[in-house]
Amino acid sequence: MSLKNLFMNGKKTKSKLFCGSFLLFVKGGSFYIPQTKKEGMNMNELQYYEKIKDWDFSQINYLSESYTNWELYDELKKVVTKDSKVLDLGTGGGEKLLEFFPECQEILGTDYSPEMIKTANKNLKKSGRKNITFKTMDNLKMTTLENYYDVVVARHTVIDANQIYKTLKKGGHLLLRGVDKLDCWSLKLLYGYGQCFNDEKPISQIDYEAILSAGFKKVELIPIHIKEYFITKEDLIALLIKTPILTDFSETKNNSNLSNGILDLSLLEKYIKENTTEKGILLIRRYYGIMATK
Ligand SMILES: C[S@@+](CC[C@H](N)C(=O)[O-])C[C@H]1O[C@@H](n2cnc3c(N)ncnc32)[C@H](O)[C@@H]1O
Repeated sequence: MSLKNLFMNGKKTKSKLFCGSFLLFVKGGSFYIPQTKKEGMNMNELQYYEKIKDWDFSQINYLSESYTNWELYDELKKVVTKDSKVLDLGTGGGEKLLEFFPECQEILGTDYSPEMIKTANKNLKKSGRKNITFKTMDNLKMTTLENYYDVVVARHTVIDANQIYKTLKKGGHLLLRGVDKLDCWSLKLLYGYGQCFNDEKPISQIDYEAILSAGFKKVELIPIHIKEYFITKEDLIALLIKTPILTDFSETKNNSNLSNGILDLSLLEKYIKENTTEKGILLIRRYYGIMATK
């Protein structure tokens, strides 16, 4: 199954160049990003996230303009009450959960990467928030109780709609946000590959159909259009190092550009030349939201 989800929040503050958990090498017209291929083997999604260890983008300097009037956390606040039990699937380092989930009876954040859960527990300690726990769990082999949660959130992660249906109470809500096939499309076109590049059906449609066939009611699919402006070339490269925009976990074809995880910097220079605006280097993002009720 291909990875479909990544995200950042618009920040208008100045910050230093991000080098993250990966060293950034810009040498001889190419740069290295984490790739699925390592020593001839396919590195899987789990290894990828185990290396990244968090989902914190606060050091990348960029502006974000949304052209869609739909916000996951506004919707979350509408359905959560003080008595709610909430589950966040693929929580990463719990960054978004700790910042945006409202107080309620119980919140569980899960992720299949033990490194992410380690980070989430560190972040929890710093936050001082109560009624929150984190644990490792595969979204595709959920071990949570049946008919237990009032709300399930899945943001930029893989899902199994049937398993989410089971763990929700009757009348419970699913709130999902994903990265769609056409995200950063002109950049992917230039490189000739990337996240979901070869998917026949957009992932938004796959999720929408799966959620309907799991038995959910009031299912709404919302396309999300966002323009992001990266202040410097280094900010854009930091994004490409941290996220799998130019990676495709479902990619099985041998692509010489992708082996060794080396990307051609001259292509990026061309993209930057064609997409530099007064506000920064433009990247057009395509996400989607899904709301559904059991
Ligand atoms: C792009 S990050 C999103 C993190 C967080 N939801 C957010 O929006 O900031 C995707 C997360 O999903 C997790 N993930 C991917 N596949 C998973 C699976 N099958 N089961 C559980 N977690 C998974 C990854 O480890 C990673 O932490």
